[in-house]
Amino acid sequence: MRTALITGITGQDGSYLAEFLLKKNYRVVGMVRRSSTENFERIEHLQDKIELRQADLLDQLSLITLLEDVRPQEIYNLAAQSFVPTSWEQPVLTAEFTALGVTRLLEAVKLVDRSIRFYQASSSEMFGKVRETPQNEKTPFYPRSPYGVAKVYGHFLTVNYRESYDLFACSGILFNHESPRRGKEFVSRKISYNVARIRLGLSNELKLGNLKAARDWGYAGDYVRAMWMMLQQEEPQDFVVGTGRAHTVQDLVEIAFDHVGLDWKKHVKLDPALVRPAEVDHLIADATRACTILKWKPEVDFEGLVRMMVDADLEYVRRETAASGKS
Ligand code: NAP
Ligand code: GDD
Repeated sequence: MRTALITGITGQDGSYLAEFLLKKNYRVVGMVRRSSTENFERIEHLQDKIELRQADLLDQLSLITLLEDVRPQEIYNLAAQSFVPTSWEQPVLTAEFTALGVTRLLEAVKLVDRSIRFYQASSSEMFGKVRETPQNEKTPFYPRSPYGVAKVYGHFLTVNYRESYDLFACSGILFNHESPRRGKEFVSRKISYNVARIRLGLSNELKLGNLKAARDWGYAGDYVRAMWMMLQQEEPQDFVVGTGRAHTVQDLVEIAFDHVGLDWKKHVKLDPALVRPAEVDHLIADATRACTILKWKPEVDFEGLVRMMVDADLEYVRRETAASGKS
């Protein structure tokens, strides 16, 4: 039985990856940081199948001890401060988690066991003000947020440790991927959650920023498969992962409202406070290498994804409302 260690297991991707690896018969260990209240909503259903260990990307010794105790064959480094707007408000903390956290973890790998296979969660946000369209593994980076800058650091550090120490370290440059487990502050979930609330008569308005921004949105369940595939190759390599189709925020809004029979123009209000200091206007992946070398392909399309999220949020809001009625 192989052992995989997932940092960020309480996040969206961590929960899907844990499910995927359990199905592949892995021993799955999740790293969680200490908190005064537990935040295990996304992995509640897996609690008796996975092991959770405390450590923190900010604490070097905790990472070394973790690797010595767990002895994983594979590490998936998904933990990060991942919300782009927060990175302007807390740029130093974002760099500590999202950039230097990668150094601390790779140093622990170097010290404890150099045969560990390492996956770094890199991001299409690194392409930022895009230098070419679509974006592939050779497209130069031009990040547009402190988050994007931190991810570029983590990406190149992964490449550098592979080249310097011969580690099996891979970087997955993943485009936006969503699901019913997405945090409510990200635009897809903000839309699906609020569409459900409006449909159920609990509110009437949805405030958004830039409706013209375009992203290559896919389904998180498809993307965790690509992470695992990268660590099963003979040689460590970096891959772009995305659907090759881009849509605007407005497209997402239209499909979501349309799915519940509402006219979005009656409910969506533009809020300049939600417009970012520097925007990433248009991202679209050229995932040819992932499709040909990994044989990866997405199974859920954009329209299916948006409808899945709205349906899940109709159920979620009904449960939320019933629970608040009882308390
Ligand atoms: P997410 O839902 O925001 O989850 C982030 C995870 O990181 C949470 O489990 C969080 O733990 C953990 N974490 C944050 N700071 C930590 C620290 N100091 N020590 C230990 N754990 C810490 O993110 P996601 O959407 O699953 O994304 C996973 C990774 O992929 C992230 O690195 C993200 O930047 C990257 N990525 C995501 C996308 C996307 O579209 N989803 C695309 C490209 C790259 P708590 O629960 O304790 O907060
Ligand atoms: N969050 C949010 N809220 N975004 C909005 C809003 C709003 O009210 N209105 C418009 N947007 C626009 C943003 O300006 C951005 O252009 C787009 O919607 C997507 O925003 P997010 O869903 O917050 O995602 P992101 O693209 O900034 O970042 C996500 O994808 C990256 C990969 O490209 C995150 O998951 C990152 O961690 C990830 O690396």
